[in-house]
Amino acid sequence: MDSQPNSQPKLFDQVRSVLRRRHYSYQTEQSRYGSGFDIFGICPQFSEDFRQAECPLRAIVCNAGIQIVSGTQCTADGFEMTFGVNHLGHFLLVNLLLPNLSDSSRIVFVSSNTHDPAKQTGMPAPQYQAAESLAFPSDNRDGDGGDVGRVRYTTSKLCNVLCAYELSRRLQKQRLKITVNAFNLGLMLNTKLIRDYGQTELSELSATISSTVLENAKSSPAIGVALAKLVLDSELENLTGKYFDGLHEVQSSQESYNEQKASELWESSMKLVLSLQTTF
Ligand SMILES: NC(=O)c1ccc[n+]([C@@H]2O[C@H](COP(=O)([O-])OP(=O)(O)OC[C@H]3O[C@@H](n4cnc5c(N)ncnc54)[C@H](OP(=O)(O)O)[C@@H]3O)[C@@H](O)[C@H]2O)c1
Repeated sequence: MDSQPNSQPKLFDQVRSVLRRRHYSYQTEQSRYGSGFDIFGICPQFSEDFRQAECPLRAIVCNAGIQIVSGTQCTADGFEMTFGVNHLGHFLLVNLLLPNLSDSSRIVFVSSNTHDPAKQTGMPAPQYQAAESLAFPSDNRDGDGGDVGRVRYTTSKLCNVLCAYELSRRLQKQRLKITVNAFNLGLMLNTKLIRDYGQTELSELSATISSTVLENAKSSPAIGVALAKLVLDSELENLTGKYFDGLHEVQSSQESYNEQKASELWESSMKLVLSLQTTF
């Protein structure tokens, strides 16, 4: 079977054609990528620019992530911000860039051990019911403090793993050799991930994280080495649908292997991405 990039599934073509039309409506934006986070503005624009640059694309690392603990915020497209940035933006960008990937390219979704309640990270367990309710939460529970935001974060990190496994299965069914894996950085303190935390939320957080977890915090150079290995190491060439904790392949959470959930996440994300075409 032909495994070249132009043999992509029809669904991806559909997304591309819908978004290419939408892309042109953003050409008049003052800033090229806009100032707020606008999934439909940024991703199609970037992927179109990338296509025009005609650069070879060997890997995509889906690293962007936020933790919002100061109350519900939404993307310019109207999606709850944590779900929008941590999952839906990556989902869309990867789908748009799939045709640019050649055989043996690699995709890495940066997740977190916090998606797994068994790891006892001090973060609350994810609560995954359905993608739609994450995109448009009906009960914002903003009076409940940072815990709501932390649950949204760990749930989005579960979405990263579910999405990596689902994409891996779909590409394998197409006999495409692009690999897709999920990666846990481990706790890294010198980042801006908790930029939204105020004093109250910081106190809440430090009360739940154990000293053992803090002692095991990793440095960014060590994390960089592990991530580079996942992207470049020839020994990992055909490895797909796996979860890495730093340099080591390990099991992800029990829930992350639920294929029904992964499929629902994929199909619903596709619907969410396509639903906004009516607002052209
Ligand atoms: N730090 C940890 O302990 C830890 C542990 C496990 C997993 N992770 C994961 O590691 C990844 C990187 O996090 P980090 O700790 O390095 O935090 P960070 O320093 O805050 O980096 C987050 C990255 O996401 C980007 N980003 C944030 N909001 C965005 C938006 N609205 N649109 C596009 N990009 C956006 C940021 O870009 P700008 O700086 O330009 O805004 C930055 O490059 C995340 O996926 C996080 O979940 C972190």
